[in-house]
Amino acid sequence: MIKTKNFVYIVGLTSALAGLLFGLDIAYVNGALNYIKSDFHLDQSQEELIAGYLLAGAAFGSVFSGWLSRRIGRKKTLIFAALMFTIFTVGGILSQTFSLFLYNRFLIGVGVGVASFIAPLYLSEIAPYKIRGGLIATYQLMITIGILLMFISNYELSYTHSWRIMLSVLLIPSTIMLISCMFLPESPKWLMLKGRQDKARKILLSIRDSEAEVDSEIHDIKNNLHLFDHGFKLLKHPYFIKVLILGILLQALQQFSGMNAFMYYSGQIFQSAGFHNPNVATIIVGVVNVLTTLLAIKYVDKIGRKPIMYIGLTILVISAFVVGYIFHIAATEELTNFYKISLLVFCLFFIFAFALSLGPVVWIICSEIFPLKGRDLGVTFSTTSNWICNTIIGSYTLTWFATFGVSGTFWFFGFMCLLGFILIKYLTPETKGISLETIEKNLQLNIPLRNIGK
Ligand code: BGC
Repeated sequence: MIKTKNFVYIVGLTSALAGLLFGLDIAYVNGALNYIKSDFHLDQSQEELIAGYLLAGAAFGSVFSGWLSRRIGRKKTLIFAALMFTIFTVGGILSQTFSLFLYNRFLIGVGVGVASFIAPLYLSEIAPYKIRGGLIATYQLMITIGILLMFISNYELSYTHSWRIMLSVLLIPSTIMLISCMFLPESPKWLMLKGRQDKARKILLSIRDSEAEVDSEIHDIKNNLHLFDHGFKLLKHPYFIKVLILGILLQALQQFSGMNAFMYYSGQIFQSAGFHNPNVATIIVGVVNVLTTLLAIKYVDKIGRKPIMYIGLTILVISAFVVGYIFHIAATEELTNFYKISLLVFCLFFIFAFALSLGPVVWIICSEIFPLKGRDLGVTFSTTSNWICNTIIGSYTLTWFATFGVSGTFWFFGFMCLLGFILIKYLTPETKGISLETIEKNLQLNIPLRNIGK
């Protein structure tokens, strides 16, 4: 028999496959764009739609995923996301017109949005609190692996000149996700919400170490169920509005740090700095992103969320300003090798810092701070905030590069990270090593947000 803890890891890994697809789909555009463009004879404005439609679909998907997961359960929502990925990836591959392709991109985006909502939420609900941070960060790890795999896959398949072949790679993980999600247990917390304690207990027994642990968890969940109003009714409570705003701001901070400027347009960034092989630099970016996320998983439950955020934000601010400065020089003269190497190094510092902090930690905190009955709604708001801000970054970064220069754009990102310190210091709680139930209780007692994790 599998040890309970190991079983939790298997469950975690399976649901984190949603993250893999998230990453694969985000990064697809980076290498496939040129081939789509020449196939459908696109102009500049149509090109931007390819990223835009996926992101808009994701924003839309995240809006209704809270409602969906409360209604049909966490597990079925994961399956729904996997179905959307699979069906509309096939749709995308078969699209004969550009509008049909965009339509499929939007619907894949819906899957991405739903997945980005449900996977961290599900993980937070099945994880024992001691490893909760690490388990949710596994989801972020899968996003970064997805991004890297797509960078590599697009690079390797570029000789085919076929965006359809590049897209068909996505069918492998989406089918695996679809099948494996069918074997996942339902979230015990959702079952309790629906009054199905027996089933919840049975599942908890298979993912916790002892019966005593299970009983105390059931007891805690039950207590909290009575404490809180239902979904939207929570909006009348100031304490809920406060965490809601925190979730929205944290996700906005994550996006306005500028990380996705690299994820979507690293090719352009390195090219404009005079790199001869921007694709290789892009793959290095992907590798650093994955490796650092591993580091974050190791330390997030040991060092804690807030110290990691401070370290990450400090490096982000410094690197964004240095990258901005080097681009400022590049605007007037050709960069020397020294500057080119420095640029690459500081870009990698930037990726390192994001992958250590804002990348995983924001998803972790957002799936921890909301009370059980308002978790769907809360995570819906914060995830939607992520996608709306992501859409803005995806759709306007190139325009900002053209209008304010790459330098001005990175200084802006650096300034946003500077503001991030205020958000972390004054509003964000440390949630390391504390049960979600205790966080809920503290929240209801109306103590300052930054202290609800104590
Ligand atoms: C963000 C994505 C980003 C990815 C990069 C995630 O946490 O939400 O927008 O592309 O990290 O690794």
